[in-house]
Amino acid sequence: MNKYNFDKIIDRRGTGSIMTDCLTKVFGRDDLCPLWIADMDFEVCPAISDAIEKRASHHIYGYSQAPESYWNSIIKWIRKRHKWDVAHEEITFVAGVVRGYAYALNFFTQKGDTVVIQQPVYTPFRNVAIGNHRRVVSNDLIKKDDTYEMDLEGLENIFREQKPKLMVLCNPHNPIGICWSKETLTEVARLARKYDVVVVSDEIHGDLGLFGHKHTPFASVSEDAAMVSISFGAPSKTFNIPGVTSSWCVVKNPELRKPFFQWLQVNELNVPTWFATVATEAAYTYGEEWLEELIPYIEDNIIAVEEYCKENLPGIHPVRPQASFLIWLDCTGLKLSHDALIDLFVNKAHLALNDGETFGNGGEGHMRLNVANSRGMLLNALEQLKNAIYTE
Ligand SMILES: Cc1ncc(COP(=O)(O)O)c(C=O)c1O
Repeated sequence: MNKYNFDKIIDRRGTGSIMTDCLTKVFGRDDLCPLWIADMDFEVCPAISDAIEKRASHHIYGYSQAPESYWNSIIKWIRKRHKWDVAHEEITFVAGVVRGYAYALNFFTQKGDTVVIQQPVYTPFRNVAIGNHRRVVSNDLIKKDDTYEMDLEGLENIFREQKPKLMVLCNPHNPIGICWSKETLTEVARLARKYDVVVVSDEIHGDLGLFGHKHTPFASVSEDAAMVSISFGAPSKTFNIPGVTSSWCVVKNPELRKPFFQWLQVNELNVPTWFATVATEAAYTYGEEWLEELIPYIEDNIIAVEEYCKENLPGIHPVRPQASFLIWLDCTGLKLSHDALIDLFVNKAHLALNDGETFGNGGEGHMRLNVANSRGMLLNALEQLKNAIYTE
């Protein structure tokens, strides 16, 4: 018997949620089933809401500091879930992983410097660099059979010829959901050290390994990785608390860490709100049981999508994710132009998914589906898609 009810449908409209309240702004209409931005439709683990409510019921919200127990909860979580030892001095708070990446980009690179990303990839990797007047080069992933690989030869060529200052690694990789292997990560680290490239490793999806796949923290794979990396993680995806904006940054190498952490400190970019520390500590201390129930629910949703597509939507092939709650749908079998594909999903099927092209090279003909929602709603959405395709 399950303790948590992930089938419960909760109306999020009118709460300011981007998922439901920005449909018209982003998709041009409001009558869509929302399956896009990467948060979940599930209620948080009660330990988190209880802790926030308890603290909120004390009606003085003055300046607050992060207690030792907050730091210890992060350190213990990382050690237990990822077998990675992090010392207190190696970790700091940042209010969001994208912000953390933007801080690292601004600190470790200059205008005009080259930054490497690996498309198709989470859109802000490019936008943050371009918006800060950096030059972006993509070492595109290689599609192989039913998955994608990193082009390590291409990466070395870029490192050698274009002399980037920084690379952003998406580990696990959004939108495809790949848990990069230790071997691949070790080679990235070796190359980065050889060519003096700082690697920002975004590990925000790291707690959500699926179907037996395990996340490997980049900085843990070798001495090279520990020396070149700035790692970011968070309880936000794991426990559905991205609105709390609580993330952490780990830097092992003191030559990178000391000046970077000092810069964050003087600019007060590492100061958490009480809301963030209370939610994070509760999540990492009491949330494991909830997470252990969440993961099979998501796996079953993925299987449901796979089976539905196999039986009813032969033009759509879901690439099975190894982590997180996003499925990369290969829709090239529908043989539609970009505009026709978007029109099919939005105007005919009334579904809001992420347009694959927004993830850059390799995103053409793909859509990203968020399956962190009740199975009933998900199956209805697939039915809407089938009806839209077959009433063409
Ligand atoms: C790879 C990746 N990094 C970062 C984020 C956003 O992180 P934050 O809200 O902490 O900035 C997301 C959200 O979808 C993501 O998929």
